[in-house]
Amino acid sequence: MSTETTTNAALFARAQKVIPGGVNSPVRAFRAVGGTPRFITRAQGAYLFDAEGRRYIDYIGSWGPMILGHGHPAVLEAVHRAVDEGLSFGAPTEREVELAEEILSLVPSMDQLRLVSSGTEAAMSALRLARGATGRSKIIKFEGCYHGHADALLVKAGSGLATFGHPTSAGVPAEVVQHTLVLEYNNVAQLEEAFALHGASLACVMIEPIAGNMNFVRASVPFMRRLRELCSQHGALLVFDEVMSGFRVALGSAQSLYAKAIPGFEPDVSVFGKVIGGGMPLAAFGGKRAVMEQLAPLGPVYQAGTLSGNPVATACGLATLREIRKPGYFEALASSTRSLLEGLLAAARDSGVPMVGDCEGGMIGFFFADRLPQNYSEVMATDKERFNRFFHAMLDRGVYLAPAMYEAGFVSSAHTAQDIAATCRAAREAFA
Ligand SMILES: Cc1ncc(COP(=O)(O)O)c(C=O)c1O
Repeated sequence: MSTETTTNAALFARAQKVIPGGVNSPVRAFRAVGGTPRFITRAQGAYLFDAEGRRYIDYIGSWGPMILGHGHPAVLEAVHRAVDEGLSFGAPTEREVELAEEILSLVPSMDQLRLVSSGTEAAMSALRLARGATGRSKIIKFEGCYHGHADALLVKAGSGLATFGHPTSAGVPAEVVQHTLVLEYNNVAQLEEAFALHGASLACVMIEPIAGNMNFVRASVPFMRRLRELCSQHGALLVFDEVMSGFRVALGSAQSLYAKAIPGFEPDVSVFGKVIGGGMPLAAFGGKRAVMEQLAPLGPVYQAGTLSGNPVATACGLATLREIRKPGYFEALASSTRSLLEGLLAAARDSGVPMVGDCEGGMIGFFFADRLPQNYSEVMATDKERFNRFFHAMLDRGVYLAPAMYEAGFVSSAHTAQDIAATCRAAREAFA
């Protein structure tokens, strides 16, 4: 039981006895930045409160889902009502249909979708679907993009474009990743070469269109245009992993931004998570009817889930989507995020600290570097030691940033101008 004297350190020591590394997802352990993870007892609006009663302005938002901030009244009400009706039925509900309709109305590239419980599950299922629909095995992914921890996607580049990847985790057999080719993000020449070599056997290319797992790196418009052309020419499906960017960078997700820049642009399959569950375990993958009808029970591609479309999770997701589609929501969110980025960059500039950054909607990234990185190697070449010092200086001042320089940040609509100003003041102090 927690007591008034419980500390984060005491809880972490206790946690490490019963949970590997003391955490249920590795990045929470603060390994990249060092120090003791904060054990959170509650959250409200833009704030997290830890076991020692300290308050933090939260720029992680549960790694993306909490776009409305914590404890939004409309979401809580919907969840409470759903809980009263029943936790899980294992049978269809009207709310699943409503949520599917809501998502599809905002993402015109998809005719149908299927709900699952995590981004990992959605990406893994999308991959199987792409392979099943094309009858091909090989896939391309990009270094620095994370698509969850399915075996075939835990892979790093081989020694050249003719060789496929190597596992990045023990327990993943080399044979499982032998069909996965890993390319450099934003590298058009490499993409063309890979398609020239393997185009006829490629089931899909999976990409984070705005990558949030190497901090914040956008796929350039020329790169995305060429990727779309090559996939279409060679009959490979273009799979957008929008688990992070979905309903976060824009109401229509990252694909709506590329559609503005590239007329007629659409991915073939899209993967969502995080925001569509509003903080509950819920994710989805979807695409055109002909592809989606390959799934069981209609087609030969098997996919299933005991808790898929869970009634409490769908209530939470629906309530969240209904808030973010209100007129002006994204404009206000984007303007908060932009003012945070500008404030941080100004603080750095005034202190002579080299810093660059980018943002879109409610997603933000900054790097201690002179120019914006375009791929994973460039992200990894930015100043990690400075990031780690900055992270701790901000945490000490009550600002909770992602505890690793390769993670994006998230602003919610609960962050007020005062929160943003307080964050920028903390940054000035940290730089000083
Ligand atoms: C782009 C992307 N895809 C997939 C995943 C996996 O999602 P989950 O952690 O819900 O399994 C993540 C998680 O951060 C992600 O950012």
